[in-house]
Amino acid sequence: MSQINYDYIVQYLRVLHTQPNEILYKIEQAVATEQHTWPIIKPEVADFMETIINIHKPKNILEIGTAVGYSAILMNSQHNSKVTTIERFPVMLKQAKKNIHEAGKDNVISILEGDGENILPTLESNHYDMIFMDCAKGQYLKFLPDCIRILKIGGILVTDNVLHKGSVAKSRYLIERRQRTTHSRLREFLWIITHADYLKSSVIPIGDGVALSYKIGNPSSNQSIHDAKEGK
Ligand SMILES: C[S@@+](CC[C@H](N)C(=O)[O-])C[C@H]1O[C@@H](n2cnc3c(N)ncnc32)[C@H](O)[C@@H]1O
Repeated sequence: MSQINYDYIVQYLRVLHTQPNEILYKIEQAVATEQHTWPIIKPEVADFMETIINIHKPKNILEIGTAVGYSAILMNSQHNSKVTTIERFPVMLKQAKKNIHEAGKDNVISILEGDGENILPTLESNHYDMIFMDCAKGQYLKFLPDCIRILKIGGILVTDNVLHKGSVAKSRYLIERRQRTTHSRLREFLWIITHADYLKSSVIPIGDGVALSYKIGNPSSNQSIHDAKEGK
């Protein structure tokens, strides 16, 4: 099974999905009809993101993983938040620019072109009210210290695909050897965000698993973000 919930539950949640604006609908249809294999957040995750943004009303949002701009447009459409989004893959960048332009959002969504690994360290500390991390899962752990640094106290970090088709909940010995590095990195990431005293997190089993983390405070100066490791 490639999804974490029963089929009938996923189908039902998708019946509840509300009609987005024209450009988002166009992207959803292109994906649903397999006209394109663009990676976009699942409909139930889109509904969750819209709700969170309406509650939290973030002024500045950072996204890591633009793909074709679907979630960036969706996030901006809720509260007119300024969205900065990072993408490294030229094919995605080209389509994202086209979609953002078509949505009339060139002035409110800025794309940072390149790898998050190089871009994140250059971003201002305590600046973002919300971060949406939706890039390569194996990099979440590496990106976490910068995410915490640039997120304001009282800000939220939303991380997508944290249950990795459910494999994260299984013993590593049941995981194919080539998946084990991602498995152990995701487990360590989830352990840290749920146990660190500067965050309050919840893992929500919708889509491929979404983690919602609230930044309570800054890590103390003598505390490394990677101190809170599973089993340590
Ligand atoms: C799941 S897709 C993002 C989907 C998008 N957030 C949406 O819902 O519309 C992940 C994207 O992250 C990009 N990506 C992965 N690792 C990255 C990195 N280290 N730096 C920048 N982009 C990255 C990939 O090229 C891909 O387009």
